[in-house]
Amino acid sequence: MTNFPHIFNPVKIGSMVSKNRLMMSAMSINFGVDDKCHVTDQLTQYFVERAKGGVGMMLVGGGSVHPGGQELPDLPILYEDSSIPALQKMVEQVKPYGVKFGVQLMHGGRQSYLPQKVAPSPIPAPAVVKGEVRALEVDEIKELVECFGNATRRCKDAGFDFVEIHAAHGYLINQFMSPNSNIRQDQYGGTFENRTRFLFEIIEDIKIKAGEDFPVGIRINGRDYIKNGWELEDAVKLAPLLEQAKVAYLHVSGGVYGSTELTIPSMYSAHGCFVYMAQEVKKHVSIPVITVGRIKSPLLAEEILRDGKADVVSMGRALLADPYLPIKAQEGKLSEIRPCIGCCLGCIHAVLAKEPGGCVANPDVGREYKLKEEHQKENRFFTNNLEKLSKTTSENVSEQKSKILVVGAGAAGMAAARLFAIRGHKVVVVEKKQNSGGLLLLASKAPGRGELGDILEFFKNELQRLNVEIVYGKPLDEEILKSFNPDKVVVATGSMPDMPMVKGLFQSKMEVVTSVDIMEESNQEAIPTGKKVIVIGGGMTGLITADYIAAQNNEVYVLNRKKSYAEEMSANDRYYLRESLKKRGVILYKNVAIDKFTDRGVEFHIKDGEAVFIDGCDMVVISEKYTPIREIKKFEPLTSADFHFIGDAKLPRHLMYCISEAEEIARS
Ligand SMILES: Cc1cc2nc3c(=O)[nH]c(=O)nc-3n(C[C@H](O)[C@H](O)[C@H](O)COP(=O)(O)O)c2cc1C
Ligand code: SF4
Repeated sequence: MTNFPHIFNPVKIGSMVSKNRLMMSAMSINFGVDDKCHVTDQLTQYFVERAKGGVGMMLVGGGSVHPGGQELPDLPILYEDSSIPALQKMVEQVKPYGVKFGVQLMHGGRQSYLPQKVAPSPIPAPAVVKGEVRALEVDEIKELVECFGNATRRCKDAGFDFVEIHAAHGYLINQFMSPNSNIRQDQYGGTFENRTRFLFEIIEDIKIKAGEDFPVGIRINGRDYIKNGWELEDAVKLAPLLEQAKVAYLHVSGGVYGSTELTIPSMYSAHGCFVYMAQEVKKHVSIPVITVGRIKSPLLAEEILRDGKADVVSMGRALLADPYLPIKAQEGKLSEIRPCIGCCLGCIHAVLAKEPGGCVANPDVGREYKLKEEHQKENRFFTNNLEKLSKTTSENVSEQKSKILVVGAGAAGMAAARLFAIRGHKVVVVEKKQNSGGLLLLASKAPGRGELGDILEFFKNELQRLNVEIVYGKPLDEEILKSFNPDKVVVATGSMPDMPMVKGLFQSKMEVVTSVDIMEESNQEAIPTGKKVIVIGGGMTGLITADYIAAQNNEVYVLNRKKSYAEEMSANDRYYLRESLKKRGVILYKNVAIDKFTDRGVEFHIKDGEAVFIDGCDMVVISEKYTPIREIKKFEPLTSADFHFIGDAKLPRHLMYCISEAEEIARS
């Protein structure tokens, strides 16, 4: 029987047929263009890799229709004919893999990164971007309508199969549609008909310039999730009108900058959080409806399609994390799919900081063009038979083989061991504890953060598939070194919390523990309930520990000596965590200078501000700085093997660096 029969059932969309019902949604990835914003080989290979992975339809994100609407600095432009040759070159390399390849037409409006922005009305975006916003004149609106049509003609000339009009997420067209951002009094403001006029004029112009048959999809919001915004009833009213206007599909998403539900939700949000909106819209049209939002599992995608909630499932980040998800699903190799963990850090957080987009789980994003040879050695070329992808043996790799001893089975250790094994080296992992996962496993215990465990599960499964032995409950000793006699020792022993030196801390009558003590599975009795707890540290670990403790019905105070909270998290992920802390009544102090701990409390002052005394407390949880665990260094003189320190054992940092460093060392 075919795996996932609903996913792998072709679908007709306008005049084209997609081989399956998975789409890679448009993502403004902010790399892969030259100084004229013409597409380069970097963007091409990023898409080639994903086309090889088997997705049915795929969109280039952020195709800029006008210089005044560029969303981010490094996105492809569509507003000059000079952009066509490079686009064409990309299309020629991508399309042989059988994907339907399209471009999303974007005008950022008030959400553009440019300092001078245009919008229907001079109202700044409520979040993310700053700068002046000017209302468009009617003749400028007419000019922009033409820009969308001209951009489509260029995409068609370059060989793309379709375009998608971006009328969602608070960008220019959505700004016209939403009363929140449109207070115009003319023919483009006020009534529903007036607010959607810009969109219909664009569709009409595109049809004139690219022909009736050229498929034009539209991305709309089901809801803006903002006060006085576009609502589901508006989407339901618009959908049949779009069908009448001969639109090829409707892609239903949600959220704008500053909304209460984010367009790109983090791990705290439910999987398939926007499906209900597509399902509602679908009741009112017969053209294909596409759903999106935290759908990373082929099982969920199949269920949505089977239940008729949508006709196509769009995935963004899941295909950043693993371009081969579709092929692996088709082959039933679900445990081999490298999962997106919903952290939003490597992808959207990076691009909104105007950096190149990437992925915490998959360090190869954006480097596909540089890694072509390496990927071939790792045997990741396109194949209809996944056996080739999964059975990577030493015969595939021509480089010299080594014996590698990896110490520590956290994320870094397992990621390194996996790639060493794929490249044909002999690998053994020793782990002091009885389980793998290290600090990441502990972090995955906190409320809403279980998805961190998915990447650990992936690496664990991979080590099993590749027959890499993990010796549990075994710290490195002389005997292992002698018996295995490695050529290289990769030290991935992680880090541990540092104890701060603060007056009175150790004389206090409160219990003093670390966040690791709290999160440790074997240490459930350490978790208080009904108590008053002080958490020292407002970084990511401090806040997720506070959330965890507060969830057990404790009164929690966080003292952050820095001026902002959890800087190492993405803004999207932090937003949900802060909401959770708020809901649980956790009290946060930042910019704190701690004066002293007392028997049952703490005296501190806010820098240049008020003095505060919290009393009657039961426990202090330390979660501030981390120190690398490097006791293993003592074994270095006993062997001729090189020692390489990776991940937190090198320097405690975010997971992103652990995985990339681990894979880097295996490739070097
Ligand atoms: C780095 C990044 C850039 C994005 N850029 C766009 C964009 O240009 N246009 C768009 O419609 N959506 C954009 N999105 C949103 C995605 O298309 C998608 O709707 C969202 O990530 C939720 O789907 P997912 O959970 O499958 O990732 C972007 C998402 C990411 C992660
Ligand atoms: S950076 Fe995080 S959220 Fe973004 S694609 Fe990668 S794993 Fe997913």
